[in-house]
Formats: sequence, C-alpha cells, structure tokens
Amino acid sequence: MLAADPVAELVADRERARAAADPFTDLCILATAEASGPVGVRTLVLRDTGPAGVGLLVSGTSPKWAPLEDGRAECLLVWLTIRRQYRLRGRLVPMPEPLVARYWGQKVHESVLVP
Ligand SMILES: Cc1cc2nc3c(=O)[nH]c(=O)nc-3n(C[C@H](O)[C@H](O)[C@H](O)COP(=O)(O)O)c2cc1C
Repeated sequence: MLAADPVAELVADRERARAAADPFTDLCILATAEASGPVGVRTLVLRDTGPAGVGLLVSGTSPKWAPLEDGRAECLLVWLTIRRQYRLRGRLVPMPEPLVARYWGQKVHESVLVP
C-alpha cells in the first residue's frame, strides 16, 4: 500500500535499511533504454534521498545521460534487510553546484582521473 507521502516513506525506509546494515543502502540500479537499441543496467551510488528527490552523480558525457534526460530510465532501490524495493521514474533536474562539488570531492581518487 502506498503511503500518503511516498518520498517521505522512501527516506524513512533508507534509514531503516542503514540501521539494518543493508549493503545496498548507498547503491541503486539504473536501467536505461536507447531510443532504438539496447537496454543498459548500471550500479550507481545513491547520493541523496530527500524531499527534492533522489540524487545521482552522472556525467553529461556518459551514454546514460540522453536516456535519463528523455525519461527512458528507471532507478531501482532494493533493501532486502527490510523487505522493500522502490522503482523510480521521474523528471531529471540538475543538482545544485555546491552539492555536485561536494560529492565529486568524495569520489575515490582513481575514479575522478580524466584520461
Ligand atoms: C559500486 C559502484 C558504484 C558506482 N557508482 C557510480 C556513480 O555514482 N556514477 C556513475 O556514473 N557511475 C557509477 N558506477 C559505474 C557505473 O556502473 C558504470 O559502469 C559507469 O557509469 C560507466 O557507464 P557508461 O560509460 O555507460 O555511462 C558505479 C559502479 C559501481 C560498481
């Protein structure tokens, strides 16, 4: 059954999952579909969950960007420790620049190196 405020429920569930040491607390699975072509599925870090939505760090040069912008994407959150999953679709809005800078700074050194 859906709660009156599903986003608030998601945020509360993520905290329950974290308290239960769920290994997927900070991860999500992003599925994207090309306009005509293959489907892609990727693991991403789940940065933010809050009233503004779900925050992901995705490069604008990545092949997953266009499907995300066009709404050909779904994000799966699954927390087996608390027997919950969420399937998310929605509008893409840019994350505020200070947050992007903060999350970028948290990435492990090797993964921020640009060839
Ligand atoms: C544990 C884990 C976390 C990841 N987190 C991210 C992430 O936050 N953002 C991201 O763009 N890719 C992340 N990746 C890498 C993606 O799964 C994917 O391989 C990468 O984005 C390249 O895909 P693309 O070139 O098709 O865009 C992560 C991979 C793993 C295994």
